[in-house]
Amino acid sequence: MEKIILYGNNNPELKGKVKISGAKNAVLPAIAAALLTKEKIRLKNVPLVTDVHTMLTLMKELGAESNIRKNSLSIQVKKIISDEASYQLVTSMRASILVLGPLLARYGKALVSLPGGCAIGSRPTDIHIHGLEKLGASIQLKHGYINATAKQLKGTEIEFEKKSVGGTENLIMAASLATGETILKNCAIEPEVVDLCKLLLKMGAKIEDIGSETLVIKGVKELGGATHEIIPDRIEAGTFLIAGALTKGSIVLTRTKPKDLTTVIERLRYSGVKINKLNSHSIQVTGTDKLKPQDITTSPYPGFPTDMQAQFSVLMTQAEGTSIISETIFDRRFAHINELLRMGANIEISSDKAIIKGKTFLSGAEITATDLRASASLVLAGLIANGKTVINEAHHLDRGYEKLEVKLKSLGARIERLQD
Ligand code: EPZ
Repeated sequence: MEKIILYGNNNPELKGKVKISGAKNAVLPAIAAALLTKEKIRLKNVPLVTDVHTMLTLMKELGAESNIRKNSLSIQVKKIISDEASYQLVTSMRASILVLGPLLARYGKALVSLPGGCAIGSRPTDIHIHGLEKLGASIQLKHGYINATAKQLKGTEIEFEKKSVGGTENLIMAASLATGETILKNCAIEPEVVDLCKLLLKMGAKIEDIGSETLVIKGVKELGGATHEIIPDRIEAGTFLIAGALTKGSIVLTRTKPKDLTTVIERLRYSGVKINKLNSHSIQVTGTDKLKPQDITTSPYPGFPTDMQAQFSVLMTQAEGTSIISETIFDRRFAHINELLRMGANIEISSDKAIIKGKTFLSGAEITATDLRASASLVLAGLIANGKTVINEAHHLDRGYEKLEVKLKSLGARIERLQD
């Protein structure tokens, strides 16, 4: 089992520069988009994280040839040889559902396992399914699978009943090859959705008003190859901003995009964290020992990201006063709280809220990671906890962070990875 060991203290000092990797949540839909064309897709700034390898395993089963060298990936699906995304794969990574739209659009059928729930809550797919049915797909749910067929998808107007990143991405990809015009309303506008649209434009798709909640997509007969650089990971950057806020010293984040982090930076500044945007791709964060508590509610972009909720909760354990963190996106995204309690945090959960009383001095303990962002929050807690922290099941971290412990070590953290 993979373990991460940290020797923290109550006022560690981190300083230096850290390069932010490409965004996991942008590269996964970009890989799925390769299904939409016979030509080659070349992606740069690809993060070497396990979710990318999982996605490439799935794509290979569907007929893709790919190779990844350093942080560049080339992938080509000359011919689709299978339309199935298996239960094992989908339950190991819910983003596998992103092959549903492209398979239907190019191949006319798809057999994708229903994801089921996961550590952060139930992961329904009704938004994906209703949208694709509106484009003319016929979809049956049986034996735990989404069984979808479509001779030819036809453009129409679709209004999402709620914002869904994956639902928006699946429908944009499907509509790109549908006949006629599709209008998608109430789209998610996360930077990762915008990045997918930019890749599709390079492939020849016709998408208007990219970045807005209403997209107009004129279907084309076929799409071509493209080369695209994946945007920096705003959640990894936010995680390092919190690491810098928690510890003394100062960290410069490079290869990042401050404008994708506006709300997170605003909230950190409100609590007294010193953050300087050095230029359009680097930010400096300086630790402070007087943190102000605040109430946060997660919401779709440009609101406070749910993927930063666990990390921010750790910061609020060090604020002087009470903070209330409301998680409105996922129904069970507080698994990290139990582990923080074992380190001495004072947190109470009531329905979708975590009531955090600070300032508490955390002490090192043996704890267990449950999901990707929870594991990041445990690493942050281990940095400032007094003594030794052992994080079990550390493989969760590798799903979305490229060499996190190596990056933290280069900033002066006492952190090791152990394989036993
Ligand atoms: C994406 O997941 C991200 N994953 C998640 O990041 C992120 O937390 C989430 O968006 C919200 O920003 C990837 O991009 C690969 P949603 P996704 O569809 O697309 C409900 C991480 O840690 N919903 O926007 O699955 C759903 O239950 C991961 O990097 C439906 O009701 O999220 C949730 O409450 C975790 N029906 C809300 O919408 C549906 O058909 C938002 O989900 C689909 C979703």
